Amino acid sequence: MAKKIIIGNWKMNPTSLAEAKRLYTDIKKGAPRIRMAEIVICPPAPYLAALTGPGKSVILGAQDSAEETQGAFTGSSSPLALKSVGVQAVILGHSERRAKGEADDLINLKIKAALKAGLRIILCVGETVRDEQGDYLVVLRSQLESCLADISKTQMNKIAIAYEPVWAIGAQATSADTPEGFLHNAIYIRQTLSKLKGASAAKTPILYGGSVSVKNAESFLVDGKADGLLVGRESLKAKNFLAIAELTSRAA
Ligand code: PGA
Repeated sequence: MAKKIIIGNWKMNPTSLAEAKRLYTDIKKGAPRIRMAEIVICPPAPYLAALTGPGKSVILGAQDSAEETQGAFTGSSSPLALKSVGVQAVILGHSERRAKGEADDLINLKIKAALKAGLRIILCVGETVRDEQGDYLVVLRSQLESCLADISKTQMNKIAIAYEPVWAIGAQATSADTPEGFLHNAIYIRQTLSKLKGASAAKTPILYGGSVSVKNAESFLVDGKADGLLVGRESLKAKNFLAIAELTSRAA
């Protein structure tokens, strides 16, 4: 039985190292009982080095990394530097970064640099608006094609896809997607991946993200057959995040 994946994306929260340590410790305390789900916590970059430590129950992830591994790139984090402080995974292509102008070709370079550094990738894709005609599927296909260009079939083993419809993310979201909506799109994503990367795509985890809560998590995992969840706001509350992690583990 494959383990599911539960990712906590803290975004630009909390605003002090003391709070970050408290939240991380609380999550770590509950993590050993989550047996069938990998827990990936992605705190803001300034806290990463301070949060590594003993214990394998939580995987530390970054929220972004640079398109190169070294050099004159003011303000960017090298995936090699991230790796050296204990980071094992990185979220790339999150819609909040795309909204700042990050395009698919840059995300593609970031994926390549992160793979070179030995990081696992969580690649976010998702449409901004859902139209009735299904044209948004073209958006998904083009994101996958461009972001994964020149990524080998073997390298695909290091990549998970998070389907996150932009309209379902964050406090301004009107609602989460439905499990049926997610399942439909996950099937489309898997078909696209297998056209692009062949049989290796059958194993690529496809996660759901966007207003995941304790209330709706199970339906995405069971009815939506999600391979895991990417959680924003609810990952800032240790109790809720652990409850979602437990549901994820149980669904494996
Ligand atoms: P949300 O964020 O759970 O707060 O909607 C999800 C995300 O952006 O990854």
